[in-house]
Amino acid sequence: MNKALRKVVIAGNWKMNKNPDEAKKLVEDIKPLVANANCDVIVCVPYVDLTNVLAAAAGSNVKVGAENCHWEVSGAYTGEISAQMLKSMNVEYVIIGHSERRQYFGETDVTVNLRVKAALAAGLKVILCVGERLEQREQGVTCELVAMQTKIALGGISDEDMKNIIIAYEPVWAIGTGKTATSEQANEVNLAIRETVAQLYGKAVGDATTVQYGGSMNAANAAELLAQPDVDGGLIGGASLKPADFATIVSAASK
Ligand code: 13P
Repeated sequence: MNKALRKVVIAGNWKMNKNPDEAKKLVEDIKPLVANANCDVIVCVPYVDLTNVLAAAAGSNVKVGAENCHWEVSGAYTGEISAQMLKSMNVEYVIIGHSERRQYFGETDVTVNLRVKAALAAGLKVILCVGERLEQREQGVTCELVAMQTKIALGGISDEDMKNIIIAYEPVWAIGTGKTATSEQANEVNLAIRETVAQLYGKAVGDATTVQYGGSMNAANAAELLAQPDVDGGLIGGASLKPADFATIVSAASK
Protein backbone atom coordinates (compact mmCIF):
# COMPACT_ATOMS: atom_id res chain seq x y z
CA MET A 1 0.00 0.00 0.00
CA ASN A 2 1.41 3.33 -1.00
CA LYS A 3 0.87 6.10 1.51
CA ALA A 4 1.76 8.74 -1.07
CA LEU A 5 -1.51 7.93 -2.83
CA ARG A 6 -3.62 9.61 -0.16
CA LYS A 7 -3.88 12.75 1.93
CA VAL A 8 -2.61 12.79 5.47
CA VAL A 9 -5.16 14.58 7.63
CA ILE A 10 -4.98 15.70 11.25
CA ALA A 11 -8.37 16.67 12.63
CA GLY A 12 -9.22 17.97 16.07
CA ASN A 13 -12.50 16.94 17.62
CA TRP A 14 -13.19 19.46 20.32
CA LYS A 15 -16.29 17.57 21.53
CA MET A 16 -18.39 19.61 24.04
CA ASN A 17 -15.63 22.05 24.92
CA LYS A 18 -15.03 25.80 24.46
CA ASN A 19 -17.53 28.62 24.28
CA PRO A 20 -17.41 30.91 21.21
CA ASP A 21 -14.86 33.33 22.69
CA GLU A 22 -12.61 30.52 23.86
CA ALA A 23 -12.98 28.86 20.47
CA LYS A 24 -11.83 32.00 18.65
CA LYS A 25 -8.78 32.22 20.89
CA LEU A 26 -7.93 28.55 20.45
CA VAL A 27 -7.99 28.82 16.64
CA GLU A 28 -5.92 32.00 16.77
CA ASP A 29 -3.37 30.17 18.91
CA ILE A 30 -3.33 27.09 16.67
CA LYS A 31 -3.10 28.95 13.32
CA PRO A 32 0.52 30.17 13.42
CA LEU A 33 1.73 26.88 14.88
CA VAL A 34 0.38 24.83 11.96
CA ALA A 35 0.85 27.36 9.15
CA ASN A 36 3.64 25.32 7.55
CA ALA A 37 1.92 21.97 7.83
CA ASN A 38 2.51 19.49 5.07
CA CYS A 39 -0.79 17.75 5.79
CA ASP A 40 -4.43 18.82 5.98
CA VAL A 41 -5.47 20.38 9.29
CA ILE A 42 -9.10 20.45 10.41
CA VAL A 43 -10.82 21.55 13.60
CA CYS A 44 -14.27 20.10 14.29
CA VAL A 45 -16.05 22.24 16.83
CA PRO A 46 -19.39 22.67 18.63
CA TYR A 47 -22.15 24.22 16.49
CA VAL A 48 -22.24 27.43 18.53
CA ASP A 49 -18.52 27.99 17.90
CA LEU A 50 -18.71 27.66 14.11
CA THR A 51 -19.23 31.35 13.30
CA ASN A 52 -16.22 32.46 15.34
CA VAL A 53 -14.03 29.57 14.26
CA LEU A 54 -14.81 30.10 10.56
CA ALA A 55 -13.95 33.78 10.91
CA ALA A 56 -10.75 33.06 12.85
CA ALA A 57 -9.63 30.36 10.40
CA ALA A 58 -10.44 32.37 7.24
CA GLY A 59 -7.42 32.75 4.97
CA SER A 60 -5.41 30.13 6.87
CA ASN A 61 -4.76 26.45 6.19
CA VAL A 62 -7.05 25.43 9.07
CA LYS A 63 -10.25 23.88 7.74
CA VAL A 64 -13.43 23.78 9.77
CA GLY A 65 -15.88 21.01 10.56
CA ALA A 66 -18.89 20.26 12.74
CA GLU A 67 -19.28 17.25 15.01
CA ASN A 68 -22.55 15.84 13.67
CA CYS A 69 -25.51 16.66 11.42
CA HIS A 70 -29.06 15.42 10.94
CA TRP A 71 -30.18 13.57 7.82
CA GLU A 72 -33.26 15.65 7.04
CA VAL A 73 -32.93 19.00 5.29
CA SER A 74 -35.30 20.77 7.71
CA GLY A 75 -38.38 20.10 9.78
CA ALA A 76 -39.68 19.21 13.22
CA TYR A 77 -36.46 17.81 14.72
CA THR A 78 -36.00 19.92 17.83
CA GLY A 79 -32.37 20.43 18.73
CA GLU A 80 -30.95 19.09 15.47
CA ILE A 81 -28.86 20.81 12.77
CA SER A 82 -29.01 19.84 9.10
CA ALA A 83 -26.12 19.33 6.72
CA GLN A 84 -27.53 22.13 4.55
CA MET A 85 -27.42 24.53 7.50
CA LEU A 86 -23.74 23.73 7.98
CA LYS A 87 -23.03 24.08 4.28
CA SER A 88 -24.77 27.46 4.20
CA MET A 89 -22.22 28.70 6.76
CA ASN A 90 -19.32 27.42 4.62
CA VAL A 91 -18.50 24.58 6.97
CA GLU A 92 -16.42 22.08 5.00
CA TYR A 93 -16.35 18.88 7.11
CA VAL A 94 -18.57 16.96 9.48
CA ILE A 95 -17.78 14.09 11.83
CA ILE A 96 -20.36 11.31 11.62
CA GLY A 97 -20.78 8.17 13.71
CA HIS A 98 -18.49 9.11 16.58
CA SER A 99 -18.63 6.43 19.25
CA GLU A 100 -19.91 8.97 21.78
CA ARG A 101 -22.91 9.54 19.50
CA ARG A 102 -23.38 5.77 19.21
CA GLN A 103 -22.93 5.20 22.95
CA TYR A 104 -24.92 8.09 24.46
CA PHE A 105 -27.32 9.21 21.75
CA GLY A 106 -28.63 6.03 20.19
CA GLU A 107 -26.73 6.37 16.92
CA THR A 108 -26.82 3.15 14.89
CA ASP A 109 -25.05 2.01 11.73
CA VAL A 110 -28.28 2.78 9.86
CA THR A 111 -28.59 6.36 11.14
CA VAL A 112 -24.88 6.85 10.50
CA ASN A 113 -25.51 5.88 6.88
CA LEU A 114 -28.44 8.33 6.64
CA ARG A 115 -26.27 11.13 7.99
CA VAL A 116 -23.35 10.30 5.68
CA LYS A 117 -25.65 10.41 2.65
CA ALA A 118 -27.23 13.68 3.77
CA ALA A 119 -23.85 15.30 4.42
CA LEU A 120 -22.51 14.33 0.99
CA ALA A 121 -25.71 15.46 -0.70
CA ALA A 122 -25.28 18.87 0.94
CA GLY A 123 -21.69 19.08 -0.32
CA LEU A 124 -19.93 18.45 2.98
CA LYS A 125 -16.91 16.21 3.43
CA VAL A 126 -17.32 13.47 5.99
CA ILE A 127 -15.09 12.07 8.72
CA LEU A 128 -16.77 8.72 9.34
CA CYS A 129 -15.89 7.07 12.67
CA VAL A 130 -15.85 3.33 13.29
CA GLY A 131 -14.37 1.28 16.12
CA GLU A 132 -14.87 -1.56 18.54
CA ARG A 133 -15.62 -1.64 22.25
CA LEU A 134 -13.24 -3.43 24.61
CA GLU A 135 -15.38 -6.57 24.93
CA GLN A 136 -15.58 -6.82 21.15
CA ARG A 137 -11.80 -6.65 20.89
CA GLU A 138 -11.54 -9.31 23.58
CA GLN A 139 -13.98 -11.49 21.63
CA GLY A 140 -11.68 -11.20 18.62
CA VAL A 141 -14.25 -9.57 16.32
CA THR A 142 -12.61 -6.17 15.81
CA CYS A 143 -11.85 -6.42 12.10
CA GLU A 144 -15.24 -7.99 11.23
CA LEU A 145 -17.00 -5.36 13.30
CA VAL A 146 -15.29 -2.34 11.75
CA ALA A 147 -15.77 -3.89 8.31
CA MET A 148 -19.50 -4.19 9.03
CA GLN A 149 -19.72 -0.62 10.40
CA THR A 150 -17.87 0.64 7.32
CA LYS A 151 -20.04 -1.28 4.85
CA ILE A 152 -23.32 -0.18 6.40
CA ALA A 153 -22.19 3.44 6.73
CA LEU A 154 -21.17 3.51 3.07
CA GLY A 155 -24.35 1.87 1.73
CA GLY A 156 -25.51 3.75 -1.36
CA ILE A 157 -22.38 5.93 -1.53
CA SER A 158 -20.85 6.21 -5.03
CA ASP A 159 -17.18 5.77 -5.99
CA GLU A 160 -17.11 9.46 -6.80
CA ASP A 161 -18.36 10.39 -3.31
CA MET A 162 -15.57 8.37 -1.70
CA LYS A 163 -13.27 11.30 -2.55
CA ASN A 164 -15.17 13.24 0.09
CA ILE A 165 -14.93 10.64 2.84
CA ILE A 166 -12.23 10.16 5.44
CA ILE A 167 -12.59 7.16 7.73
CA ALA A 168 -11.38 7.35 11.32
CA TYR A 169 -10.67 4.15 13.22
CA GLU A 170 -11.36 4.96 16.86
CA PRO A 171 -11.27 2.01 19.27
CA VAL A 172 -13.81 2.97 21.93
CA TRP A 173 -11.58 1.67 24.74
CA ALA A 174 -8.83 4.10 23.69
CA ILE A 175 -10.96 7.26 23.62
CA GLY A 176 -10.25 9.64 26.46
CA THR A 177 -8.74 6.82 28.51
CA GLY A 178 -5.06 7.43 27.92
CA LYS A 179 -4.91 3.84 26.55
CA THR A 180 -3.69 4.10 22.99
CA ALA A 181 -3.86 1.24 20.55
CA THR A 182 -0.36 0.01 19.77
CA SER A 183 0.85 1.18 16.41
CA GLU A 184 0.52 -2.46 15.20
CA GLN A 185 -3.10 -2.66 16.39
CA ALA A 186 -3.92 0.67 14.76
CA ASN A 187 -2.28 -0.33 11.50
CA GLU A 188 -3.95 -3.76 11.43
CA VAL A 189 -7.44 -2.31 11.78
CA ASN A 190 -6.76 0.63 9.45
CA LEU A 191 -5.65 -1.89 6.84
CA ALA A 192 -8.82 -3.94 7.41
CA ILE A 193 -10.87 -0.78 6.81
CA ARG A 194 -8.91 -0.01 3.63
CA GLU A 195 -9.46 -3.57 2.41
CA THR A 196 -13.18 -3.21 3.08
CA VAL A 197 -13.26 -0.02 1.00
CA ALA A 198 -11.29 -1.84 -1.72
CA GLN A 199 -13.82 -4.70 -1.66
CA LEU A 200 -16.64 -2.23 -2.15
CA TYR A 201 -15.03 0.20 -4.62
CA GLY A 202 -11.87 -1.43 -5.98
CA LYS A 203 -8.21 -1.19 -5.01
CA ALA A 204 -7.61 2.30 -6.41
CA VAL A 205 -10.32 3.78 -4.18
CA GLY A 206 -9.07 1.78 -1.19
CA ASP A 207 -5.55 3.06 -1.76
CA ALA A 208 -6.76 6.65 -2.14
CA THR A 209 -8.96 6.72 0.99
CA THR A 210 -7.54 8.48 4.04
CA VAL A 211 -7.90 6.27 7.12
CA GLN A 212 -7.08 8.03 10.38
CA TYR A 213 -6.48 6.65 13.85
CA GLY A 214 -8.09 8.25 16.90
CA GLY A 215 -8.00 7.42 20.59
CA SER A 216 -5.60 9.06 23.02
CA MET A 217 -3.30 10.18 20.21
CA ASN A 218 -1.04 12.82 21.71
CA ALA A 219 2.18 14.74 21.22
CA ALA A 220 4.23 11.86 22.63
CA ASN A 221 2.79 8.92 20.68
CA ALA A 222 1.70 10.53 17.40
CA ALA A 223 4.96 10.06 15.49
CA GLU A 224 5.00 6.31 16.01
CA LEU A 225 1.33 5.86 15.12
CA LEU A 226 1.62 8.10 12.06
CA ALA A 227 4.68 6.24 10.83
CA GLN A 228 2.52 3.17 10.20
CA PRO A 229 1.87 2.54 6.51
CA ASP A 230 -1.93 2.54 6.83
CA VAL A 231 -2.33 5.32 9.41
CA ASP A 232 -3.01 8.41 7.29
CA GLY A 233 -3.51 10.91 10.06
CA GLY A 234 -5.34 11.28 13.32
CA LEU A 235 -8.62 12.34 14.88
CA ILE A 236 -7.57 14.02 18.07
CA GLY A 237 -9.74 14.71 21.11
CA GLY A 238 -8.10 15.99 24.29
CA ALA A 239 -4.78 16.97 22.70
CA SER A 240 -6.54 19.09 20.07
CA LEU A 241 -7.51 21.55 22.82
CA LYS A 242 -3.83 22.25 23.56
CA PRO A 243 -2.28 24.29 20.73
CA ALA A 244 1.32 23.15 21.27
CA ASP A 245 0.34 19.47 21.51
CA PHE A 246 -1.92 19.70 18.47
CA ALA A 247 0.88 21.42 16.54
CA THR A 248 3.35 18.69 17.52
CA ILE A 249 0.96 16.08 16.13
CA VAL A 250 0.54 18.12 12.93
CA SER A 251 4.31 18.34 12.48
CA ALA A 252 4.67 14.58 13.11
CA ALA A 253 2.15 14.08 10.31
CA SER A 254 3.99 16.50 8.04
CA LYS A 255 7.13 14.35 7.84
P1 13P B 1 -9.07 11.50 22.74
O1 13P B 1 -7.96 11.93 21.82
O2 13P B 1 -9.40 12.48 23.81
O3 13P B 1 -8.86 10.09 23.26
O4 13P B 1 -10.39 11.44 21.82
C1 13P B 1 -10.33 10.79 20.62
C2 13P B 1 -11.59 11.04 19.90
O5 13P B 1 -12.65 10.60 20.29
C3 13P B 1 -11.53 11.89 18.70
O6 13P B 1 -12.72 11.86 18.01
